[in-house]
Amino acid sequence: MKKVLLIQFSQSGQLTRIAKKFVQPLVDDPNVELVFENLEPAVAYPFPWPFVQFFDTFPESVYLDPPKMAPFTVRKNDKFDLVIVAYQVWFLSPAGPIVGFLQSDTAKAVLNDTPVVTLIACRNMWLVAQEKMKTLLSDCGAKLVGNVALIDEAGGALSFFSTPSWVLTGNKGAKLGGLIPAAGVAEHEIEACDRFGDRISQVFSTNAVIDETLLQGLGAVNVNERYIASEHTAHRGFKIWGKLLRSVGPSGDPKRKPILLLYATFLILFICTFIPLSVLLKALIAPFTKARVLRQKQQFEQPSGSSTENLV
Ligand SMILES: Cc1cc2nc3c(=O)[nH]c(=O)nc-3n(C[C@H](O)[C@H](O)[C@H](O)COP(=O)(O)O)c2cc1C
Repeated sequence: MKKVLLIQFSQSGQLTRIAKKFVQPLVDDPNVELVFENLEPAVAYPFPWPFVQFFDTFPESVYLDPPKMAPFTVRKNDKFDLVIVAYQVWFLSPAGPIVGFLQSDTAKAVLNDTPVVTLIACRNMWLVAQEKMKTLLSDCGAKLVGNVALIDEAGGALSFFSTPSWVLTGNKGAKLGGLIPAAGVAEHEIEACDRFGDRISQVFSTNAVIDETLLQGLGAVNVNERYIASEHTAHRGFKIWGKLLRSVGPSGDPKRKPILLLYATFLILFICTFIPLSVLLKALIAPFTKARVLRQKQQFEQPSGSSTENLV
């Protein structure tokens, strides 16, 4: 009997749906026992988010300051053949409750020497978050063997409007007569992600070693190389503003509010000016940077890759 732990935190329920679809073949497999750990912070985050609180979360998210967590169901001496960490991205970082779990003594005991697959569902910027995830996992002594990333179907530019409007209003649908498209991951992508659970079940049945080949050839991720530099630039900005805000007071401190409003204005201007300009500039210099960017793309796509040769 193989034992699998699925750890997840979702606010709207989208990630829960994706994670459940992903593991359904393991639930159906009589030779697999699946343990479901639904993470809960001690104080729930709101959904939909009030505008100021949404931005007030960014300094702690970026600096990986964990929220206080409600007790976990999983115990320190529980061991698993595979752990699936399903997470959403907050400000280019794994969402607070996932960090709260991964920095706990429980995670350090449970994940030690254990293969881990990460499953991301976010707007479309997950590269820096996954680098942080790799460090968190390695601090637990875990071995990352797979990564699947699903992004919002609206696309890079339009999801700048659709995703924030979803998390700030709770309404996922199209708005302004379709000018802002519906938010979230496409239905067909969610439906198709049981292929990963199928593959895991298949590999378990052969008793093969679980390594980085686990989810290869299934179109697990697709890195849009145009966002590599933008994510790094945005993250540098987050660190500077985040440091300033953390020095003013803790999350929720009213003294942070004026700086937050200034920051929100800066961020909106940054998104509307710098990001399109840098994408344009990168398109212009693309012929000269092609080889380096391709190398970076391949590196960020590790370990599962974007190839689809094993899809039926
Ligand atoms: C506070 C906050 C910050 C977010 N930051 C990012 C981000 O940096 N990159 C990204 O791609 N998505 C970001 N998102 C979108 C989420 O990753 C996710 O798609 C959305 O919150 C829905 O998750 P859920 O349905 O599982 O709760 C953010 C969402 C929230 C609430």
